[in-house]
Parts: sequence; C-alpha cells; structure tokens
Amino acid sequence: MAETTTIGIIMNGVSGRMGYRQHLLRSILAIRDQGGVTLSDGSRVQVEPLLVGRSEAKLAELAARHGIENYTTDLDAALADDRWQIYSDFLVTKARVPAITKAIAAGKAIYTEKPTAESYEDALELARLAQSAGVKNGVVHDKLYLPGLRKLKRLIDSGFFGRILSVRGEFGYWVFEGDWQAAQRPSWNYRAEDGGGIVVDMFPHWSYVLENLFGRVESVYARAVTEIPQRVDENGDTYAATADDAAYAIFELAGGITAQLNSSWTTRVNRDELVEFQVDGTLGSAVVGLFGCKIQPRNATPKPVWNPDIADKHDYDADWIESPANDVFENGFKTQWEEFIRHVAEDGPNAFDFLAGARGVLLAEEGLRSSREGRRIELPEVTL
Ligand SMILES: NC(=O)c1ccc[n+]([C@@H]2O[C@H](COP(=O)([O-])OP(=O)(O)OC[C@H]3O[C@@H](n4cnc5c(N)ncnc54)[C@H](O)[C@@H]3O)[C@@H](O)[C@H]2O)c1
Repeated sequence: MAETTTIGIIMNGVSGRMGYRQHLLRSILAIRDQGGVTLSDGSRVQVEPLLVGRSEAKLAELAARHGIENYTTDLDAALADDRWQIYSDFLVTKARVPAITKAIAAGKAIYTEKPTAESYEDALELARLAQSAGVKNGVVHDKLYLPGLRKLKRLIDSGFFGRILSVRGEFGYWVFEGDWQAAQRPSWNYRAEDGGGIVVDMFPHWSYVLENLFGRVESVYARAVTEIPQRVDENGDTYAATADDAAYAIFELAGGITAQLNSSWTTRVNRDELVEFQVDGTLGSAVVGLFGCKIQPRNATPKPVWNPDIADKHDYDADWIESPANDVFENGFKTQWEEFIRHVAEDGPNAFDFLAGARGVLLAEEGLRSSREGRRIELPEVTL
C-alpha cells in the first residue's frame, strides 16, 4: 500500500465567513475526509489543521464540532512549531500583511485569501520577502475553478470564439443596509478605514480572471461610488459607509480585447446567476455564470432588424445552446487547496503566487485612482 504522510496546516481566521465555510469545511475537512491528497507517485498527504484565532472559546467550539485536535490563540508559538508546514490566512484584509510577514520569517509555505494586502506596495513587498526567504506561496484564485469559468476556458482553448472581441460582466446583488433586514455581508466591507470597498474586494478577482482567460490587463478606467452612505452593523449601530459599494469599469486587455465589468452591492438581480460574463467573438459568443455556460455559434446567429415600430416576437433566449459539463467539477477552493498541497509536497505547479496577488492589488489601487482622477490608467508589468 502506498505510504501516507501528514502535512500540518495553520488556519488563521478560521471562524470567519470564508475561513470557516470555504477553507475549513469545504476544503481542508473535505480533503481530510477523503483521506488526503494523492501525489504523482500514488502516495498520499493527509492534512492536519491547527485552528488559530483570537477567541479561544470559538476555536474550542469549532474544534469539538469537527473533531479537530489542535487549536490556539498563540500564532507566534504555532509559527515556531515545525509540525506546521503551511500557514494559511483568511483574516480581514487589514490584518493580513503583519501575519503573513511573520509566517514568511518563520519559513512556512503560505496560502492566502485575496487581496494579499491593502496597498500594491505592501503586496509587492510580500512577494519579494517570500521570494528572498524561498518560501512557497499561493493566493486564492477561486473564480477560475468555477464550473462556468472552466467551461469558458474550454471554449477558448477549442477556438470556439474565433477572435475574441469583448467581455461584458455583471457581478452583484442587493446587500441589505442592515436597518430593517440584517446585512448579508460583514460591515467592515463598507468601511474604507477597515479595508472594505467593492473595488478592493472584486478587482483582485477580475485581475486573475481576465489575465488567465483573455490576456494581461493593460489599462483600467473605473468609476467607484458609494451609493448607500449609511448602514447598520452587526450590533445594530448605524455607521457611515465610507467605502465604495459599486464600481463600473472598463479594462483594456493585451490583444485588443475590451472588458467591461460592473461590480455592485446595490443592484437587484435580473440574470440567471450572481455573476455573469458575455464573451463575443467573430465565430461565436458565450454567456457564463458560476455554473452555467450557454453558447451561440456564428452559424446559429439570428439576424435582428432594428424597428422600434413593431414589437419583436423573437425569443432571443431560445437561440442559445447550453454547454454540457462533461466532467465533475469539485468545489474550487478545495481543488486549488489540493494543487497548493501538491506544490508544497512534491513541487507541483503553482501559477497563482504572491506576484499574481500583487497584480490584483495593483488593479484595485489603480482602479480607485482612475475613479478619483476621472481618467484611464495604464498598468505596468509587475515584476519583483
Ligand atoms: N475568495 C473570495 O471569493 C472571497 C470572498 C469574500 C471574502 N474574501 C476575503 O477573505 C477575507 C475574509 O473575509 P470574510 O468575509 O471571511 O470576513 P469575516 O469578517 O467573516 O472574517 C474575518 C476573520 O478575521 C478575524 N479578524 C478580524 N479582525 C481581526 C484582527 N484585527 N486581527 C486578527 N483577526 C481578525 C475574524 O475574527 C474572522 O475570523 C478577506 O480578506 C476578504 O477579502 C474572499
């Protein structure tokens, strides 16, 4: 029987929304339950989590609920202990840089949520520190692993689109203000001073989605706005919403593709999914969401004629063909965790490193600057 080794993973911020649901429950515990990650030689690496946070009581409760042996509020002691090879970070963005800096100094491999930092300077510094310390590093790129985007990648690779012309994306939904219905996102997201804002939250995603599917982001024009200036927090206290809650942006990509993406927590959904992208190419178009992917090839394109005097009875929705999955797509966070564990255990590939994270932070920073200055901003190539 193939041998099984164990890899110890420090999970910091595991009581939070992302830390608990996506990283602990759906990734690390799911990997533990399946008996670990299989390596290329057939051996297995089992995962052993160490829960880290500020509240001992919360950690103890989580550990008991999921049969986890180890938890601590002492991050420094955890970092000093060789049993734990990977440090992972799901803290609020504001708390991330100091924690990761310590983990780099301790020589841990590091896997983190995005954005890697609040400023591009800090994000680039983390990439430099990690490189000079020789520690492996990875950043969550979850959207690329969504079934809809994986089907889109397949279409691109197959040549379905011909020459891709443009990408149009809508992300968003109504986030309640918190007065008469509780908000469904943490209040720090709406305070700039606490690392909030939809640009800082979503542009790092748009950065890796665009560069991995279509081409390098060469410029950005964005208008970021705060549509709801006052919200009510988790304790029922009213606060000033100082961060942007909607952003309307145009990105120019290498190869001449234009991407227009709207990100909004102040819109009501009238589409099939909370995020949807339409890609138009010379030979075909596709509309993809988190799960779905429908296509319309050139040969099945209707020929509308503009006539505002006659109601158009054509059912445009019916012209699209649903693209099949032809595969089982697992939770994206879990799949990326497995890749990172292989990267640490056997030097498997890892494209999504701190430098990719820094490009995401740069896009957010320049997006906000574009909005402040009311102009298009060109983005430099990011190097260490
Ligand atoms: N990949 C994605 O799709 C995605 C989605 C949402 C959020 N995120 C990112 O995940 C991170 C966490 O977001 P969330 O929505 O889970 O937030 P959250 O508020 O639910 O959780 C944050 C965690 O950080 C801890 N924390 C808060 N302040 C701290 C401090 N000063 N020092 C140490 N710990 C502190 C909290 O106890 C909690 O465990 C953010 O960086 C966010 O940008 C990513």
